[in-house]
Amino acid sequence: MKQELEYRINNTDPGPRKKFVRETFDAIADTYDVLNRVLSFGIDMSWRTAAVRLLGDIRRKDIIDLCSGTGDFIPLLSAKGARVVAVDFSLAMLKKGKEIGKIHECAVAADVCKLPLRSEYFDAAIIAFGVRNIPDINVFIDEIFRVLKENGELVVLELTRPRNIIIRGLYRIYLTCVLPFVGGIVSGKLRAYRYLSKTIESFIDPEHLSRMLERGGFNYIRILRRFFGIATIIHCRRREQIRMPIQ
Ligand SMILES: C[S@@+](CC[C@H](N)C(=O)[O-])C[C@H]1O[C@@H](n2cnc3c(N)ncnc32)[C@H](O)[C@@H]1O
Repeated sequence: MKQELEYRINNTDPGPRKKFVRETFDAIADTYDVLNRVLSFGIDMSWRTAAVRLLGDIRRKDIIDLCSGTGDFIPLLSAKGARVVAVDFSLAMLKKGKEIGKIHECAVAADVCKLPLRSEYFDAAIIAFGVRNIPDINVFIDEIFRVLKENGELVVLELTRPRNIIIRGLYRIYLTCVLPFVGGIVSGKLRAYRYLSKTIESFIDPEHLSRMLERGGFNYIRILRRFFGIATIIHCRRREQIRMPIQ
C-alpha cells in the first residue's frame, strides 16, 4: 500500500496507478474545492494567478488546461480572453466543475498522456497540481510537445518541498498530520488525502523535472519558487521542430 501512495516514474505500465488516481479523484470530487481553499489557506489562488500572468497576452489564444479537475484555472484564463480546453480523466471532477459554473467551455474526459486532440494546435498548456499524479511522465512530456505549436508555452504549477530545513520540517508535520486528518474528516476519504501528502513528499524535485522537460524538447526553462518553495512554477517553451533538409 505504501508503494501505491508514493510517486514513482513508470513509463511502461502506468495503468494500475492511473486507475487508482482516477478513482481517488472521483471519490473526493464533491469536497475537493472547499478543502483545497481551506488546506492551502487560500494561497493556491495567488499561485494560479501568478502562473496565468506568465503567459502574458492570451487574448484569442488556444490554451489547454491539463488535469483541470473542477476547472480552477478556467475563469482566470477566460477573463483574459483565452479559449480554453479542459482535460481530465475524472468525469466526477469535470462534472463538479460544470455544476459550479467554472467549466463552461470545452471539456474533454481523457488521459493527458493520450490526448484525442490535433497536433500543434495549442498556443499554451497549463497544469496545476497534476503532474505528480502522472507516472508515465516521459509519455506526458512527448504528448504536450505534440499538441503545442512551435514556441508554444508550458506552465507547470506543482506542490514541492521547501529547501529551508526548518520550514521543510514544519511542512512535513503539516503533510503527515494536518492534511490527511482534516482532508480525511471532511471528505470521509482518509486514504485519498494520505495519497496527496505522500506524492508531495515523494515527487521528483523541480530541477529533475526541468531536465526531463529539456530532454523532451522544451527550452527557456525558468523555475519560480513560491511561498518558501511549498509551490513551484516551471515556465518553458516548446522548441521548434528540427527539420532535416531534403537531400
Ligand atoms: C490535484 S487535482 C488538480 C486539479 C486542478 N488542476 C486544480 O488546480 O485544482 C489533479 C487532477 O488531475 C487529474 N489527473 C491525474 N492524472 C491524470 C491523467 N493522466 N489524465 C487526466 N487527468 C489526470 C485528476 O483526475 C485530478 O482531477
